[in-house]
Amino acid sequence: MPVMVPSIDRHVFFWGGFSLLEDGFPLVFFFLSAFYYIMEQELQRLAAESSKALESLETVEQLEEFRIRYLGRKGQFSTIMRQLGSVAKEDRPRIGQLANSLKKDLEEAFEIKQAALRAVSAKNGDRPDLTLPGRRPQNGTLHPVTRVMNEACAIFESLGFSVAEGPDVETDYYNFEALNIPAHHPARDMHDTFYVSDSTLLRTHTSPMQARIMTSQQPPLRVIAPGKVYRCDSDITHTPMFHQLEGFLVDRAVSFADLKGVLSVFTEKMFGRKLALRFRPSYFPFTEPSAEVDIACVMCDGGGCRVCKKTGWLEILGAGMIDPEVFTMVGYDAEVYSGFAFGLGIERIAMLKYGISDIRMFYENDLRFLEQF
Ligand code: FA5
Repeated sequence: MPVMVPSIDRHVFFWGGFSLLEDGFPLVFFFLSAFYYIMEQELQRLAAESSKALESLETVEQLEEFRIRYLGRKGQFSTIMRQLGSVAKEDRPRIGQLANSLKKDLEEAFEIKQAALRAVSAKNGDRPDLTLPGRRPQNGTLHPVTRVMNEACAIFESLGFSVAEGPDVETDYYNFEALNIPAHHPARDMHDTFYVSDSTLLRTHTSPMQARIMTSQQPPLRVIAPGKVYRCDSDITHTPMFHQLEGFLVDRAVSFADLKGVLSVFTEKMFGRKLALRFRPSYFPFTEPSAEVDIACVMCDGGGCRVCKKTGWLEILGAGMIDPEVFTMVGYDAEVYSGFAFGLGIERIAMLKYGISDIRMFYENDLRFLEQF
């Protein structure tokens, strides 16, 4: 039960209470109850005083003084709380609760005031606030496709290939005609694409670079041509824009064994271990014979899993021996020279290397995905 207190100054009563307590045991219960009332009053007074003081603050420096005075470890709230032991046991939870809630209100108001004063200070071009936490610079990382493309280029360069780049907007001639794909050839259907005009289009593969380089340079040649290509395609393994890396080698007495050797070294270096290669007979108008090349599934090592659709193999590129017809078109003597060519799908390699099951993730720009590389 709270006790009515005479209207004498609270501090006098409070400290007077202490000295009386030392003198006489019968007064103990009276003072324990009195302390409850006094502490409650003291807390309310402190809350009113501090919130008024907070309102009047004008600088960041004053804020710090305020924090030490009211909210610090030796501040006024803590000082009162240290006297909690003087209150009757059954009253302590209520007083404790009241003190915590008033202190929490003050802390929240303090944070709002702090943010407001810091904003004003920053706006006025005041000295920088050195108490603010530092801003961590965000380091960018290379896109996984760029990373794999760079790695692939480095591997072929180490094998003596030089890099050539060509235009994304290509002529019908280089994209099709020079590669033995005349108008109305059924092979054009697979490359149905984005035309810019009747005679120009977004290139559908990097193979036009074979014709471009061969018409301007003489053998021996060892070239790779990385770049973007475009097709009307979209599903979990196809995107309308993707990257290919074309490679071709022209010299005397080049054989299919050379192609196999170069591709074996490439896959071993790219995936960090020896992987079996499978050459499946295929058809491209600009190579003869042609093959689609599979590697033993990197997920299950050829045992069969969901990614390789239980076959144990994954297709990564198209390849073949350059068709003599192409040599004739670029003015090379097909009796003297032979060569191989291949076209790698870079996104496919990146999917296998990083275990990504949907190619479209590369182009959704989701930072949670991209930050992992
Ligand atoms: C070609 O594009 C031929 N120019 C490759 C070639 C070069 C053959 C030199 C012979 C000599 P193909 O259409 O199969 O071939 O594509 C080659 C690779 O590109 C495929 O194995 C696949 O990895 C990738 N690819 C094809 N279409 C897409 C697509 N829409 N999205 C992502 N990758 C694709």
